[in-house]
Amino acid sequence: MSQDAGTATPEGHVAEGVRRRDFINIAAVSAAGVGGAATLIPLISQMSASADVLAASSTEIDISQIQPGQAIKGVFRKQPVFIRNLTPAEVAEANKVDVGSLRDPQTLKERTKEGKENWLITMGVCTHLGCVPQGAAEGEVKGEFGGYFCPCHGSHYDTAARIRKGPAPKNLLVPEYEFTSDTVVKIG
Ligand code: FES
Repeated sequence: MSQDAGTATPEGHVAEGVRRRDFINIAAVSAAGVGGAATLIPLISQMSASADVLAASSTEIDISQIQPGQAIKGVFRKQPVFIRNLTPAEVAEANKVDVGSLRDPQTLKERTKEGKENWLITMGVCTHLGCVPQGAAEGEVKGEFGGYFCPCHGSHYDTAARIRKGPAPKNLLVPEYEFTSDTVVKIG
């Protein structure tokens, strides 16, 4: 895409570079609360929230707009968090892996909530040296295993955000969270 950073297309899509750079602001919308003005349009809005909101110990995120195959980047305790709605194919891909062969052995089931295996919620912080992996925004590289890719030193995570290749020692961390409704998740 050759548009300048900050330029939105007539369809309302924002240039890829903007999405990457401004996701904190985007996520702040979801952190600002559920309902009211917090309607979440993944990766488009550029509103910001006050520092006290970002520093809140828990974050509620409206996940109703996240379609299967989509993800959003939120903020939890000032760090990026990925909320991903896995497709049935991505769930199947994660479940067919021989867990014993993994560097950090965990099943998808262990990394998600019962009955909501499609909702993969992890910190967006590479467990190597803390870069933000790619793969949560539309058009971003997802790596060799279809999950996330950390471009800093080449760590590849799979569709359960488990480390599969590269220097990262651990899977992307799953924070404490709960579903407060079918469309709202409370992290922290
Ligand atoms: S920080 Fe991600 S691979 Fe090094």
